[in-house]
Amino acid sequence: MFKLVTHNIKKYEEIKKIIPSLEMVELEYPEIQADTLEEVVEFSLNYLGEKIGGNIIIDDSGLFIEALNGFPGVYSAYVFKTIGNKGILRLMEGIKNRRAYFKTVIGVRVDGYNYKLVGICHGEIAMSERGTNGFGYDPIFVPEGYDRTFAEMSTDEKNRISHRGKATRKLAAFISRIA
Ligand code: IMP
Repeated sequence: MFKLVTHNIKKYEEIKKIIPSLEMVELEYPEIQADTLEEVVEFSLNYLGEKIGGNIIIDDSGLFIEALNGFPGVYSAYVFKTIGNKGILRLMEGIKNRRAYFKTVIGVRVDGYNYKLVGICHGEIAMSERGTNGFGYDPIFVPEGYDRTFAEMSTDEKNRISHRGKATRKLAAFISRIA
């Protein structure tokens, strides 16, 4: 039995659509300051392994904007809390290259061993906020091949193409292999 440890119910809703049997444990845990999502996930898995034990799943994600050299990246949560989508749009004013990608690293801890499953979704930063679905940076991210933002899509549609959808389908395959 696996439990997804998160305090973000929206992430849980997206992942549960792909893995309906997954349970959620609502818990906020410390995230270290590091250069990569993978390092953050490794630390958190070890921390949670000691704190609550059992088979654990976590999701750490970030938005990487090419013209800003990958910012906000590993700082995505802090940047969203402080300057938000409006702040990102302001930073992007006058910038033609709007390419960006979302990355999710799903961390799995099984019997004391850590595994990581990665999903990436390329796209562009929109010119303004659009849509009310989803969460976080969804209103300003337009995935490649679409003209709507993630916030203008249903959860199922976002899941089909998103960073989290891709990492979660890898997770489903991983779970079925070890079950
Ligand atoms: P974390 O994975 O909870 O650390 O997320 C980092 C930041 O990125 C938070 O502000 C989230 O709201 C945002 N974020 C994570 N995943 C998504 C997503 O799928 N869409 C939009 N924003 C996201």
